[in-house]
Amino acid sequence: MIIKPHDIFKDALKKGYAIGAFNTSNLEVTQAIVAAAEKQKAPVIVQTSEGAIKYGGLNVLTGIVETLSEEVNVPVVLHLDHGKSVDMIKRCIEAGYTSVMIDASKKSLEDNMEITAEVVEYAHARGVWVEAELGAIMGIEGAQKMEGEGTPDDWLTDPKEVEMFVKETGVDALAVSVGTIHGAFTGQEYIRFELIEEIEKKAPQMPMVLHGASGISGDRISRAAKSNVCKVNIDTELRIAFTDAVKAYFSADHDKVDPRELLGPAKEAVQGVVEEKIQSLGSAGKANV
Ligand code: G3H
Ligand code: ZN
Repeated sequence: MIIKPHDIFKDALKKGYAIGAFNTSNLEVTQAIVAAAEKQKAPVIVQTSEGAIKYGGLNVLTGIVETLSEEVNVPVVLHLDHGKSVDMIKRCIEAGYTSVMIDASKKSLEDNMEITAEVVEYAHARGVWVEAELGAIMGIEGAQKMEGEGTPDDWLTDPKEVEMFVKETGVDALAVSVGTIHGAFTGQEYIRFELIEEIEKKAPQMPMVLHGASGISGDRISRAAKSNVCKVNIDTELRIAFTDAVKAYFSADHDKVDPRELLGPAKEAVQGVVEEKIQSLGSAGKANV
């Protein structure tokens, strides 16, 4: 069953671990994520971007997640990642998503707050959790170059804006820009732990979300998970694991023509990465809290 995220976030915040949020756009990656969560006895967030929904179809992806989550005994949350359009957010809630992100981070602070507050009002009336972004996480997200001038440092979350943003919008979780970058690794990304601490001081009970976690070492992920970072987003590393396994299949001599032969190893590779991340996040064994 797809569950609402409220209790698992509460537990993660209290006990100092984080829940892995893994992106999917198809059956095999979703199977891998759910199987990994089951094996590690961990709560898990399965998330789709607007691009993934365009590719897989909203009802199809919802159906896959719903069906797979019925078969396991771990909490599964279905989340919209980087929702840019209020219309898409409403469609996802209607379809059965229990958590949504409104990403108005490239707009002015005032506009970001106004749109976020509008989404919060709509979602909360339907029992749905809302994540919003303050500051902006740069890089390649969902295979689309993000707009915005300057370097990632120009877009870090400003702790001075946190209290007002949280109070004015009523948001449930805050995606923060603290040094990580979406997409392939540039070698420039690292987590500014002192910035996380500053943000925590401004909103001590607010769960934070770390985006762009691909390429960050297990040790750093573990350290972040002990703070108020309660959700950690990972996409690119799953894509790489999947693609490398498919490449390996085609680099060997074979005469098979069955898609299952190439997708099976790709699925296993993704499951391996998800299990490793769940262990770093400290959410293994937290399924029944
Ligand atoms: O919203 C999705 C994530 O922030 C994923 O970032 O592709 O760098 O893992 P990533
Ligand atoms: Zn992201």
